[in-house]
Formats: sequence, C-alpha cells, structure tokens
Amino acid sequence: MNKDAASEIRDLTDKINYHNYRYYVLDDPEISDSEYDRLFDRLVELEKQHPELQLPDSPTQRVGAAPSEKFEQIKHSIPMLSLNKSLSKQEFLDFDKRIRTELAGDNESIRYVTEPKLDGLAVEVVYKNGILTVASTRGDGITGEIITDNVRTIRSVPLRLMANDPPSLIEVRGEVVITKADFAKLNKTREKNGEDLFANPRNAAAGSLRQLDPKVTASRPLLMLAYEVGKIEGVNLKLHSETLEYLRTLGFRVSDLIRINSSADEVAKRYDEFLEKRAMIPFDVDGMVVKIDSYRHRRKLGELSRSPRWAIAWKFPPEQATTIIEDIKVQVGRTGILTPVAHLKPVRVGGVEVSRATLHNEDEVKRKGVMIGDTVIVQRAGDVIPEVVKPIVEKRTGSEKPFNMPRKCPACGSTVVKDTDGVYVRCPNPHCPAQVVERIIHFVSKSGVDVDGLGSRLIEKMVEQGILKDPADVFFLTSEKLLTMERMGEKLAGNILESIEKSRKPDLAHLIHALGIRNVGEHLASVLARRFNSIENLSEAPVEKLAEIDDIGPIVARSTREYFDRPETKRMIDKLVEGGMVFPHEESSVRNEPLKGKTFVITGTLENYSRSQAKKLLTNLGAKVTSTVSKKTDFVVAGANPGSKYLKAQSLGIKIIDEQEFLKIISE
Ligand code: IVH
Repeated sequence: MNKDAASEIRDLTDKINYHNYRYYVLDDPEISDSEYDRLFDRLVELEKQHPELQLPDSPTQRVGAAPSEKFEQIKHSIPMLSLNKSLSKQEFLDFDKRIRTELAGDNESIRYVTEPKLDGLAVEVVYKNGILTVASTRGDGITGEIITDNVRTIRSVPLRLMANDPPSLIEVRGEVVITKADFAKLNKTREKNGEDLFANPRNAAAGSLRQLDPKVTASRPLLMLAYEVGKIEGVNLKLHSETLEYLRTLGFRVSDLIRINSSADEVAKRYDEFLEKRAMIPFDVDGMVVKIDSYRHRRKLGELSRSPRWAIAWKFPPEQATTIIEDIKVQVGRTGILTPVAHLKPVRVGGVEVSRATLHNEDEVKRKGVMIGDTVIVQRAGDVIPEVVKPIVEKRTGSEKPFNMPRKCPACGSTVVKDTDGVYVRCPNPHCPAQVVERIIHFVSKSGVDVDGLGSRLIEKMVEQGILKDPADVFFLTSEKLLTMERMGEKLAGNILESIEKSRKPDLAHLIHALGIRNVGEHLASVLARRFNSIENLSEAPVEKLAEIDDIGPIVARSTREYFDRPETKRMIDKLVEGGMVFPHEESSVRNEPLKGKTFVITGTLENYSRSQAKKLLTNLGAKVTSTVSKKTDFVVAGANPGSKYLKAQSLGIKIIDEQEFLKIISE
C-alpha cells in the first residue's frame, strides 16, 4: 500500500513539476488549469496521509513554508561580483580595445554574449545532485541572506533539475523580476486594498523576495531568469553561451533576447536594437550586459576585487529624470473632461525631451501630493505619455503653490460639474471651443475619417476664427477658406481638399469611431459596424439590443443610445449628408465570417497595407485582432522588422505568417 502511495507521489511530483515548467518557463502549457489543480490536490492529499513520503522536490512546497524570525546569512562560495558600467558607446569601445590588447596573440577568436541587464534582484540557487538545497540573495557580494523557502515559491525555479545525470553541484545565478504587466496589476490590487504602492517592478520584486513569510512571496508573480553559474562540479563547460543553453536544458528560464556577437560593431548594433525595443520588453531592462563568451579568455582577463574585467554593463539612458513643475494647466478634452497637465522644465527622459506630463485628475494630484513649483521625478514607461512619479519633498522652498481644480472651464467659462462616480470634472457646454477642437481632431484622425493635412494647430486656429464650428464643417471647407489661414499655400490647400474628398466615403467602423460616442473606441466601433451595417440601423437600436452584443457592456449600450437620442446628433448627421458624406451601407458580414474565432496579432511593417488596414481586413472576416501575443493567439502576421511579439510567438510556438501568407488567407 505504502509502496503504491510512494510511487504515486513520485509520479505526481514529476508530472506537476513538468507542467510547471511548461507553464512558467516555456510559457506553453500542455494541460488546463483545472487538470493541473486536480493533480495538485491529489498530491496534497497523499502527502497529508503519508508526510514521511514527501519528496524534496515536491511542488506543494511552493505555496510557502512557515514564516521565520529573520534571515540567516550565508557566505557565497564564489563572490557574486557586480558589473562595471559603460555610459556611452565610447566607453564600450574603450572596453573592447582593452580586451583586444590583452588578448592579443591568442588564437581563439573573441566572441561577446550580449544580454539584457535585468532590473531585479540577483540571487543564487544551489543544487546538490539535482535538488534545490539553498537559495540566497547577493547581499554585499560576499555574504547574502538565505531565502530558500521564498525562492521555492517561484515557479520558474526548478526544485529538481531536469537531467537524468545532474551535476553533483551547481550554483545558478540569475535575476528575480516581475513583468511590467504583473507589476501594474499588483499595484492596482494594492491600491484597492489601501496598501502602499511599490515604486517600480524592482522594488516589488525585492520586497516580495525578502519577506519573512514565504506565503506572501508565493502570492507574488515572481520570475527568475538565469544568467551565470557560480561553482559547478561534474560538468565541463567552455563557453558562457554553452552554459546558458545547458541551464535551459536543466529547466531554467533564460532570456530569449541573448545573442552572440563577434565584433564591437555588432555589439553596438545590438545595443541600438535593445534601446529601440526597450518599451516592448516585458521586463524593466536598464542596459545591455556584454560578456566575453570564452571561459579561457575570462580567466586570462581576470577580475578586480568587485567586478570582472571580462564584462561590462552598457547602460541605457535613464527613463526617469528630475525636473520642476513650472505650472499645472487644465486641458479640456473631447467629452469635456478637465485634465490637469504638469508643464515641466524640459528634461530628457530615456532619450526623449519631455515638457508635459498628465496628472490624470484632481484625485491623482492629491494622491501624488504634487504642487506647482515642486521638483519632481518624471518617468516614461515605454511609449506611454510621461508621468510624474512623485515630488521630492526635501527640495521644497515654501514658495510652492497647491493645485486646485478650477470651478469654471478654462476654455469657455462654464461652471464645471463632477461626474456621478466623482473622479472626473467636466465642462458641460457642448459648444465649448476646447471640446469642439478636440472633437474635430478626433473626427479627422487616422482612426476616424482620416483627413491628411489638418493638424491640431490648424484646427485650433480655424475654430478660433469661426471657420470650423463642428466636425461636419470640415466638409464645407473650400480653398478660399483655407487660404485665409496663415502659412497656407495653394498646394497644401489642394492636398487637404483632395484628402477631404476621399474621407467623404469612410467605411462604417471608421465613421462610428469618428463620431466620438463616449466609451466607443476603435475596437467597439468595428464591433458595432459589423453588427449593424449602417448608421441608420445603429441609431435605431434599443439599449437592450446593444447590450446583448458580445464585448458591449451596459455602459457602452447606454452611452451609444444617449448619443443618438440627442438632437445635436441628428443635426450633425444631416449636416454631414449635406456636406456630401456618403453613409456606408455595408453588406451584412454576419453570414460570412470565415475567420470567426481566430485571433491575430500584427507586428512589423507590411509592404501593401498599413496595420490598421490589415486589421480592418481581418476583422471584416470575423477575426479578432489583438495587440499582445498570448497562448490564445492563433496567428502572428509578421512584416519587416517585427518586434518582441515575434520572439514571444516563437517561444510560444504560435504560427507566424508572412505577408504572402496573410494575403492568401484574406483572399481565400
Ligand atoms: S552577470 C560578474 N548578467 O547586475 C557577473 N548580471 O552589476 C555579474 N544583472 O548583481 C552578474 N542582468 O543583479 C549579470 N544579464 C545579467 C544581468 C546582471 C542584471 C545585475 C545583477 C548583478 C548586477 C551587477
């Protein structure tokens, strides 16, 4: 009986560890969550009946052991060094030159391995005969803290190495990180629960790992990416790149952004690629690590007391910077929402000059505690609008002024009103010039009816001069009217009119989006277009019918209905017709949706279509087009210079198609 239990426990332990690996290391699960839970529950039950049979690599330990009083210290058998920095290309070239001088005459060619410099917490995990025995933090490099119970909760860390013949000893080093997406989710939950927010993913990872209660660690979405080894016995590896591959075979997650580069030029190119892709990398990366590949070369080059002479961290320009809030001005949006915007003393952040940062709303200004005149930290996270992180309170002089939301709209002077949910303040005047400007900008934008040449400055001026009073006025523009504008020539006016002519025949989805119905973005506009085939049908749809549609919730149903019930809407539609707009009546596509149920992601540049055209073609055929690659993605359409989505698709084993295949699919 016990023998049966023992073998079932061994079997379940192996199975669960394997499925963990599929999920957390390969990002490619083979079984459903419920199937996984079933295996897990069975193992918990068996271990409860036979505690003596629990294996050292049992996945049940991942839920977190009992809390401890304090962390014990441990001396690393080989110091965990830090990296010398290079802050410019010149500094990297100097490094390369030094390497070449010191290795002159050596006939093994110099190869570099380039890796993302992950911004998390360095750890060391020790395996004896394949079993995880101790994990520790880097500490001061000589001694660290033992955090074995915490590291065991990290699903991408194998509890037992995936090798039949594991090395008798291996110390694996790597970085514990949290993805940017998980970080955002974590902070959102903390905000809801009234807990302090983490400043950045690194703090969140470090805070989660240095928890005396491993159950807390277990609840955090930590990941470990392996990048070096310490002491190793029983295997003979000659190259770092070989080691990384070996770590992969042992079941570790190793970044798929690592490359081998054989010249300084190649390394510099790779650096530029990293910088360009930085925003798309799921983790915070603050530079690129350049390491010598050959261990023999590494030994020749040697080490200084704190850092090796065979590696360098070529840092990225910071994505955070310090500057001063010169003023906080209020902007009025298309739907009348008043948004406080910080006007900053211009500063370079992550290679881009920043002079404005949104403060979202009044509550946010209060929560962040920023004042006019404050010295603040600003950051750019990827491609999103820069934001103010926090004020540096120590730098206050006493002359800072608090920000108060105005009671009157700064553009038209109407008394503002607060939304029922209490977050947004709005200008209630639909004729407010600021709103009119924003509505027209939205109307003519690429995702609207798409008029080229009408920039926001020009629109602003034309509203100011009374040439444009609403979006429909765009269709009444003439060359005489345009030529009254400053810096307008015959040629530009002609181009604008030509583009307006084209935009008189929009497709339904773009038209619906252009109207600017509250809460209806690009995706919902195409959902509505597909369902209703014409503005007429849509404008007559009752709330209940709208709310029945997949993806459309009660709020959108209500705001859509409200929009069409307004007398101004009717007037505007009449005016658009009068202005020569052809309202589309699209063939019902419901009958013919050959790609229904298929999810596509588009990455890179296509030769024959813009991304939005390609998206439109696919959604017309019933496909869903999303912006992130996940296990649910069926196809990734890859054009020239694809981004990280391509790599993600590769690692998930998702079918990648090129433009030719894409054309074939849509024409079939
Ligand atoms: S190798 C001697 N590789 O950077 C080799 N470190 O300044 C040192 N780090 O403590 C480690 N990404 O926390 C290495 N791909 C990478 C890294 C990396 C981030 C961190 C690590 C280390 C610090 C060194």
